[in-house]
Amino acid sequence: MDSIKIFCPASVANLSCGYDILGLCLSEPIGDEMVVRKNTSGVLRITKTTGEPIPKDIDKNLVGTAAKALLKSYGTNVGFDIEIHKKIKPGSGMGSSAASGAGIVFAINQLLGSPFTQEQLVSFAMEGEKTASGSKHPDNVVPLLFGGITLSKSAEKLTIVKLPTPKSLFVTVVHPQIELRTADARNVLKKNVSLQNAVKQTANMGLFVSGLYTENYEHISQALEDILVEPQRKALIPKFDELKQSAKKAGALGSGISGSGPSFFALSNAQGTAEKIKNEFASVFSSLPIELDIHISKVNDEGIRVLSL
Ligand code: HSE
Repeated sequence: MDSIKIFCPASVANLSCGYDILGLCLSEPIGDEMVVRKNTSGVLRITKTTGEPIPKDIDKNLVGTAAKALLKSYGTNVGFDIEIHKKIKPGSGMGSSAASGAGIVFAINQLLGSPFTQEQLVSFAMEGEKTASGSKHPDNVVPLLFGGITLSKSAEKLTIVKLPTPKSLFVTVVHPQIELRTADARNVLKKNVSLQNAVKQTANMGLFVSGLYTENYEHISQALEDILVEPQRKALIPKFDELKQSAKKAGALGSGISGSGPSFFALSNAQGTAEKIKNEFASVFSSLPIELDIHISKVNDEGIRVLSL
């Protein structure tokens, strides 16, 4: 196999109660496409980009960092030509950098005959996240590589759990088209939290995971609360309070900042509710001159998908 074309989906990280731990893969059509071909020159290069503006210089694009981390571990000198069709806007809070980083390591691993484990691919892709935001958070790249809803424990050893997806879970995501850099949204956060708040957030996280396993929407709803990060970031999100209220009014299980924002998500347990949330989100922004994308999505259990070989 010398060439591969893949679809790299968007994602929602944090899911309110799991900062840097939980992530969810969104369904098509929200995502990028990438074409990767082995070349004979032994050089890694980006030959074409379309869509959102991103660096074409391999040394300035995070796909270069992620790919080089993989190739360093592989050892043998192999070159690849990379085309990136970037549809997820960088700085959207929908995992744009993860789509590039996870996408490139997935594609190269396939072209090399799959020498690496999924966990190794996550580590390489996280190098790309570091280039993009200064931080090696796993919560966007993991759901792309594993599919579904994922939990990542990222310490010396990376431990990943793919969590079950309740059958009727829907995600509504609104993306106000302003750029919010993840690095900036991380820089506003204080380095320490109170014990009392850590206890509350730990309970939320446990209840969320348990709620997924038992399909208990009441528990999922109670758990979708962010004590630690959202209060510090909400000032960066246009119409945060109104979005929160409108999601509740429409019957959402819960809502919050998607990743580091500015996108905002809500979970619900019926398509009709997801549609109502979409309409509410649109009306929150109706008086503002901000362009919007609003998506309704099921959880994408597959993650990155091969389009052609
Ligand atoms: N967990 C990361 C953050 C996700 O919130 O900064 C970035 O998309």
